[in-house]
Amino acid sequence: RKIAIEIIDETGSTNTDLLKRAFALSSPTMLLARRQTAGRGRGGKVWHSAPDASLTFSLAWPFLRPAAELAGLSLVIGVSLARSLRELGVLVTLKWPNDVLKDGKKLAGILVERSSEPNRQAPDKNWVIIGIGINLQLPDELETQISQPAAEALWLSNMDKNLLVATLLNQLVGTFTQFESDGLAAFVTSWNALHAYDRKKVIVFRDGQPKHSGMVVGIDEYGRLILEENGNRTAFSAGEVSLRQD
Ligand code: BTN
Repeated sequence: RKIAIEIIDETGSTNTDLLKRAFALSSPTMLLARRQTAGRGRGGKVWHSAPDASLTFSLAWPFLRPAAELAGLSLVIGVSLARSLRELGVLVTLKWPNDVLKDGKKLAGILVERSSEPNRQAPDKNWVIIGIGINLQLPDELETQISQPAAEALWLSNMDKNLLVATLLNQLVGTFTQFESDGLAAFVTSWNALHAYDRKKVIVFRDGQPKHSGMVVGIDEYGRLILEENGNRTAFSAGEVSLRQD
């Protein structure tokens, strides 16, 4: 299957660009920008940028799986990023739902969005825009902007940057194919093994308020976080709550 790869110097947001174009795409497309001026994170947050600071790209990919299952896709992408980085000798963990951590600090973020307009050539498929941002460097100007002070970077050479992009694309395509046939279920064990908070005590926040505290016992086949509190198990959906280690 052919994938179009576009590399540009600068844009607002590669996710916004592909969202606008998704209805007209005729093949899966990767858009990589050397710099974003209006990078977006989850929950309306800003993905900050400075020259060469992060690797920022998006992929537009058609899936036959029902839209309801696409929440699990962002978890699956975390596994894919972790596998890619491990190939380059970088060990990372995941923080539910989809932060990638290095030494316990955020290294990369994932933003999955769905195109609402049907694609002209494949209207039966769900075209999903998968945006990935990986910190490469942390210049002072950036560290002061990032609200989450705990950020890590990869500090790669140019050669290794190219290798990283190639490795990621290769891993992601394999992951999408497996997700398309088997869904999130095929990744649950791998995801749990990578979870930074596996078997740890955490506090669950809803609307910024601490609401539950208990032990993380894993994610289920819907991608919900399962918390054990006084012998009772509760499932939380991504987007509703956030986690902090107790
Ligand atoms: C997060 O951690 O909240 C997700 C961050 C996602 C950032 C990437 S960078 C490439 C793509 N384009 C964007 O505007 N956002 C994503």
